[in-house]
Amino acid sequence: MGKPIVVLGIFNADAAYRAARLPRLGETIMGAGFHLGPGGKGSNQAVAAGRAGGDVHMITRLGADDFGLMARGVWASAGVTPHVIEDAESHTGSAFIFLEEGTGQNAIIVCPGAAGRISVGDIQTNAALIQGAGVFLTQLEQPLDAAEEGLRVARAAGVTTILNPAPATDLTDAMLSLVDIITPNESEAEGLTGLPVTTRAEAEAAADALIARGVGAAIITLGEKGVLYRKGGKSIHVPARAPGPVKETTGAGDAFNGGLATALAEGQAIEQALRFGCAVAGISVTRPGAAASMPHRAEIDAFLAG
Ligand code: RIB
Repeated sequence: MGKPIVVLGIFNADAAYRAARLPRLGETIMGAGFHLGPGGKGSNQAVAAGRAGGDVHMITRLGADDFGLMARGVWASAGVTPHVIEDAESHTGSAFIFLEEGTGQNAIIVCPGAAGRISVGDIQTNAALIQGAGVFLTQLEQPLDAAEEGLRVARAAGVTTILNPAPATDLTDAMLSLVDIITPNESEAEGLTGLPVTTRAEAEAAADALIARGVGAAIITLGEKGVLYRKGGKSIHVPARAPGPVKETTGAGDAFNGGLATALAEGQAIEQALRFGCAVAGISVTRPGAAASMPHRAEIDAFLAG
């Protein structure tokens, strides 16, 4: 087991509906399938890292309700240690997930509930935990000021900081300069830089633009095309690889981030860490669900060795 990984983020109960298309306003259509399970980008990343063998700690807020119990259950089974503020004035996060039959593509609405009230004070309460980590990992589903404070506390303590800028939003250069590795997907990279990201050359230009704004390195996740790492004018491209047919891509980016954090916390070199993250993501897309699809270490090692 490597150094501790601290994840700041949210848990959602994902209510996933599979259908041929989204209904129009005022219309009712029949679905083809339903699944209720654990999700939320931060929680998915924590579960991915925990199952991959990381010593993982999750900072969040939950409501005092059944979805909160679902969160605690999935963390317990993945070996994730919760650092939870239970907020009786709100509810545990939930997400509506539309899964398009045929393509497996998704569209998501997130209501973070209690996790939308994570505060700078919550980060200060957990400052010693963050300072003792090897890797601090966060996203943008909880309030931005809390994410920035987490990055600031981690950076000041020399902890490796990873920001998965999802969902995309405008970020200041001051916040970006607290980030060692930023991990946007193509559309998030476009949103952050205003540049198109459809080719490898464009992804490199967008990564360089993020580095010019203060991040240490950029990893642009390219879906079925893998990931592109960029630092100091040099690139590493790792192709995507899955051990079977793709069933559902919800949480694939989370799988990559959780795997990457685990590998870096173990001291793996960056190219090896990218391959590890891609293996976690590659296995996860062959299974339904978000957190439920995250693989265990033995499966990851076997896939990497194959
Ligand atoms: O990245 C996938 C996740 O985004 C889902 O689990 C959903 O809860 C949203 O947070």
